[in-house]
Amino acid sequence: MATDKYYVSYTKVHKLVKKLAERLLSSGYNPDVIVAIGSGGFIPARILKTFINRPIYAVGISYYGVDHTHRDHPTKIQWIDEVANQLTGKNILLIDEVDDTRATLAYCVGELLKYKPKEIAVLVLHNKLKKKDVEMPGEIKRYYVGEEIPDMWIKYPWDAEDIDAHNEMERKQREEEKK
Ligand code: G4P
Ligand code: MG
Repeated sequence: MATDKYYVSYTKVHKLVKKLAERLLSSGYNPDVIVAIGSGGFIPARILKTFINRPIYAVGISYYGVDHTHRDHPTKIQWIDEVANQLTGKNILLIDEVDDTRATLAYCVGELLKYKPKEIAVLVLHNKLKKKDVEMPGEIKRYYVGEEIPDMWIKYPWDAEDIDAHNEMERKQREEEKK
């Protein structure tokens, strides 16, 4: 690919989520609850609810400070409180948009394991093929990935200030890929 950015449209996100939902169901995993890591995991989680109707709990984990530099470790900025007991003994599906360094995902899995769920599965739209800062905890036996991509910056539609320009870039990228 000529560019170091990878444009993803809402339509593409929707189709990736649908494909993931089908893979999830055919693999026999039956989540009781969806935990979405904000903010990137919110929209994929909501689309997944169209195919797998389960309650969505939202958590916020930040790996970047306000100055946009990495903190030492991921930090909770929003967590599940009164519903925490609903995780014990349950099948959890943890959703985020991208597995980049893996630090946020691994941290979140570690925190959720404290509630003694039956199982946690992880679902992401994109996994970047790169050396990860941390490994996925061994408790994760099911990991559903929409697309594996090289280590490049993904442009998600919800970050676009001009969605028409975003879609145009995505269309050009598809044209390039056909060549
Ligand atoms: P990981 O465990 O999922 O690998 O996440 P990591 O901590 O490495 O990611 C830190 C932040 O960087 C996350 O956002 C993630 O969404 C964002 N990020 C990483 N790669 C990309 C990319 O290619 N494109 C975009 N758009 N974002 C990327 P965050 O700071 O936790 O917050 P939020 O953006 O989800 O609200
Ligand atoms: Mg995120």
